[in-house]
Amino acid sequence: MEKPWGGRFKKSTHKLVENFTPSISFDKRLYRQDIEGSVAHAKMLAKTGIITEEEAELIIKGLDEIQEEIKTGKFEFKHELEDIHMNIEKRLIEKIGPVGGKLHTARSRNDQVTLDVHLYLKEEIDSVLELIVDLQKAIISLAEKNVETIMPGYTHLQRAQPISFAHHIMAYYYMLERDYGRLVDCYKRTDMMPLGAGALAGTSLPIDRKMTARLLGFSSIYENSIDAVSDRDFIMEFLSAAAILMTHLSRLGEELVLWSSAEFNFIEIDDGFATGSSIMPQKKNPDVAELVRGKSGRVFGNLMALLAVMKSLPLAYHSDMQEDKERLFDTVDTVKACLAVLSPMLITLKVNSENMRQAAEKGFTNATDVADYLVKKGVPFRKAHEIVGKMVLECIEKNKSLSELTIEEFKSLSPLIEEDIYNEISIKKCVESRNSCGGTSFENVRKNISRAKENIISKQKPLL
Ligand code: ARG
Repeated sequence: MEKPWGGRFKKSTHKLVENFTPSISFDKRLYRQDIEGSVAHAKMLAKTGIITEEEAELIIKGLDEIQEEIKTGKFEFKHELEDIHMNIEKRLIEKIGPVGGKLHTARSRNDQVTLDVHLYLKEEIDSVLELIVDLQKAIISLAEKNVETIMPGYTHLQRAQPISFAHHIMAYYYMLERDYGRLVDCYKRTDMMPLGAGALAGTSLPIDRKMTARLLGFSSIYENSIDAVSDRDFIMEFLSAAAILMTHLSRLGEELVLWSSAEFNFIEIDDGFATGSSIMPQKKNPDVAELVRGKSGRVFGNLMALLAVMKSLPLAYHSDMQEDKERLFDTVDTVKACLAVLSPMLITLKVNSENMRQAAEKGFTNATDVADYLVKKGVPFRKAHEIVGKMVLECIEKNKSLSELTIEEFKSLSPLIEEDIYNEISIKKCVESRNSCGGTSFENVRKNISRAKENIISKQKPLL
């Protein structure tokens, strides 16, 4: 097939190259954005008198029909035409004749492709943001039901201090809040229009880039044509934000895996969100949580891949950059799928509050509270730490919990201890009394939840 760029070539493309260079298998996904960009470009060309209004109308009508052909599966994508841009342009010329060849005036595939990706990513950031909010809502609803559900908090995966389960799960709400912020930020830098850069240096034709930007809903335009076609930092920024988001989701996934094990038995995953084993009839596996954990790997890989592609590339466009799209598409699909599945999974989760509480009662999670009790009686914290360390040792030897020590046993280690110790170190009291700002007290957790709900209501409108 004759190439749109075939003029200066004497020989045809080698078969191996025909299969090696095309991006159509994956960039056909950008057809809607490609057509949207072309329609705006045609309108601008007409407005500035570079083509006539009639020519623009013909072009736009042709593009609309092509959009319909693609939507209804009637369009034949040809890999000899390399990419979505040339597939659409060639079809346009086929449909409306040589006037179709005027569409590519004052434009190059270099600025066209990055325009398409900017349009695509703006939409996708918006849908990822929506999914983040959905997950935050699911977290809030789980937290609301569990303010007074007490579990052991862990450090080093060893029982540390008793906490409200709602407090623990709300930690993810705040992580997601920062992910949201990072994406809103990334959106600002994606909301810039590169079209009009041409191949790299701009054009001598009297184009109006601001008009095209307005038509396409961009807030600003790239001020430097070389920058416009050379960089993919807006994609790298999205991939970075997505990678950080996936670290959060992977930690949540990991906790769901741990908590649903018989060893913890803190939660039961709803049947609809678990799977069985082909050999062991008793199994109920947390595959969804495992896959969320596992899929973080590919998102990190996508970021690394694009960083490696972009590193040290001299300006301006290179075909290397064609490698950006699969990494971006895979990241968008993966992140959206993980967010979407986690929300209903959390809402349907069964919490075994009794087991959580029993676990919190064991492991001396109130040891810090005994030390704080002594601190309130004037004992320096270091000394109190040592005394309680000895108490714990005694408990281990006698196979008791701290609250099971008799008052005599307490007094033998510190005469300052009175009967009120039992109330002070009850697991519930330990949680309730941690009311420092940001602490796990029920009151704080309730406040956090209600503030989070207000925050969610205030950000219901999409960025687009
Ligand atoms: N398929 C190309 C890409 O994805 C489009 C731009 C091609 N430009 C060029 N001069 N070969 O980057």
